[in-house]
Amino acid sequence: MSTVITSVDQLNFKRSELKPMTAPSKVMMVEPTYYDVEYVINPYMKNQIGAVDKIQARNEWEHLRDGYKELGFKVDVLDGREGFPDMVFCANQSLPYISPEGDKHVLMSIMKADQRKGEVPFIEQYYRRKGYAIHHIESETVESFEGMGDALWHFKHGLIWGAYGFRSSLEVYDQISELFDVPVIALELQREEFYHLDTCMCVLNEETVLVYSDAFTAQGMDLISAMFDTVIEATAYEAENLFAVNAVSPDGLNVLIQQGCTDVNQKLRDAGFYVHEYSTYEFLKSGGSVFCMKMMLW
Ligand code: ARG
Repeated sequence: MSTVITSVDQLNFKRSELKPMTAPSKVMMVEPTYYDVEYVINPYMKNQIGAVDKIQARNEWEHLRDGYKELGFKVDVLDGREGFPDMVFCANQSLPYISPEGDKHVLMSIMKADQRKGEVPFIEQYYRRKGYAIHHIESETVESFEGMGDALWHFKHGLIWGAYGFRSSLEVYDQISELFDVPVIALELQREEFYHLDTCMCVLNEETVLVYSDAFTAQGMDLISAMFDTVIEATAYEAENLFAVNAVSPDGLNVLIQQGCTDVNQKLRDAGFYVHEYSTYEFLKSGGSVFCMKMMLW
């Protein structure tokens, strides 16, 4: 049985009634060896072909990797692959899940752009080595699904926030709900600058979310407000130019975020979070930042 909710009147559960989920303790990242902007599949990539400073990108990536280590996370690093310049954005090729009994599962993505489809089997090999049960989308009804770019776990709870409109098809969420036996709250994205859910929604902890509300429909914002006690809003400038919402709170207390998000950072501190700023300028050229450059695992 699947539960996919698209409006507040369909919400038939409270947060406290959801099944519990272990918080992640590991991070997977992909080396930026072959990272570049070689094609245009989102508005940020326009005019950036060949504009990546490789040395600077490597510095930024290593600094971010070390940040996870400092916070006590074990970091697994995979090799990048020649010909796949976007593979460094390893939030996109999969959606992992851990059951209350500790069984690890992963659903592999179907990337929207042909240029990225070949990344998925490489990421799948990693999960196979780690002993995950591997699942694939039944593709008759689903055109594409971009993993944790569009499907976010509610911190420590068996609930998925799933976006559709640009990179993922609404139809995938029936399969996800059924496969992991969790409800999905589906949100339509309406602005191409916010083409993935992780560009406009960041689940900080059980009660708190950071959003850029312009990216959502009124119905979507109502759903978000119904499930979180505190909704922090990013300004248009920081959401679009600094990818402020593509932040991550790996432990529900510390937040890693692109440098310079003054307004959001103040709001985060006021809400009790510790803010750590990282430069991801070379990755902003490709339409990605902190959140998309990692996968949180158990
Ligand atoms: N250039 C990549 C793309 O357009 C960037 C992906 C960023 N990832 C993310 N989850 N927002 O697919």
